[in-house]
Amino acid sequence: MSKPVALVSGANRGIGRRVAERLAADGYRVLVGSRVLAAGEAVAGRIRATGGDAEAVSLDVADDASVAAAAASLPALDALVNNAGVALDGFDAEVVRRTLAVNTYGAHRLTHAVRDKLVSGARVVNVSSGLADEAGLQDVLRERFADPGLDEAGLLALLQEFEAAVAAGRHGGAGWPSSAYRISKVGLNALTRIWARSWGDLYVNSACPGWVRTDMGGAGAPRSLDEGADTIVWLAEGPAARPTGGYFRDRAPAGW
Ligand SMILES: NC(=O)c1ccc[n+]([C@@H]2O[C@H](COP(=O)([O-])OP(=O)(O)OC[C@H]3O[C@@H](n4cnc5c(N)ncnc54)[C@H](OP(=O)(O)O)[C@@H]3O)[C@@H](O)[C@H]2O)c1
Repeated sequence: MSKPVALVSGANRGIGRRVAERLAADGYRVLVGSRVLAAGEAVAGRIRATGGDAEAVSLDVADDASVAAAAASLPALDALVNNAGVALDGFDAEVVRRTLAVNTYGAHRLTHAVRDKLVSGARVVNVSSGLADEAGLQDVLRERFADPGLDEAGLLALLQEFEAAVAAGRHGGAGWPSSAYRISKVGLNALTRIWARSWGDLYVNSACPGWVRTDMGGAGAPRSLDEGADTIVWLAEGPAARPTGGYFRDRAPAGW
């Protein structure tokens, strides 16, 4: 029987790399998505050296041409892990633009590009964050993101509203937080719910890795790479209960 295949974005370092290593150890053929191909090749080579099956794929999720070229080269996929992410310093319109470009629009771009490669029953895992906690949003915004009638066009318009409010210097008055990262992951979680409602043949979930010792999380973070990767790998491999449209931390449902 052929091996299941998983694509992991941003798998050249950090949590994504550990997810790729774990999936390979569990018998997956892993496609190591990396903006810099040589960095992905180094990870894939190390996986192969320990008996795993891995191949690097040049993939910049913020770039249409890169995503299209990667998607065209891919085989059928049993799992897609939207892990690539940035947490930039500062807060202004440019930080918002660059953050959404990767964390939210990047996951959207890649998932749509590979949609027809995802086999029936495939898992999509969106790597989110505890900072996406919707409870802390002002009521009106929380309701708009959580609206069960929200579709992709509505979500993209909502995110563009955030971008426009920041550019105009009036985001605070409109109830938006001063955090591009936070809204990028709130938006990613909304995509999880929208895709789960729209795509009944797939299992789409968000995973929170916790605060993990990576370049992003810093050396003082309490969680190891394995702890951060665990729930992501569990969802990517398809837990027996077959959840979809959920948000998980430590293999258990967490509040949005
Ligand atoms: N670490 C934490 O405590 C923590 C907590 C909650 C959530 N998360 C989430 O977990 C995920 C992984 O984070 P991490 O801590 O492992 O971060 P990291 O060590 O900074 O690694 C980020 C990865 O994303 C890649 N990436 C960035 N922009 C990209 C783009 N445009 N296209 C493709 N890949 C891109 C990076 O590639 P390059 O090497 O080319 O830059 C790198 O491989 C992120 O989504 C993050 O938001 C992390």
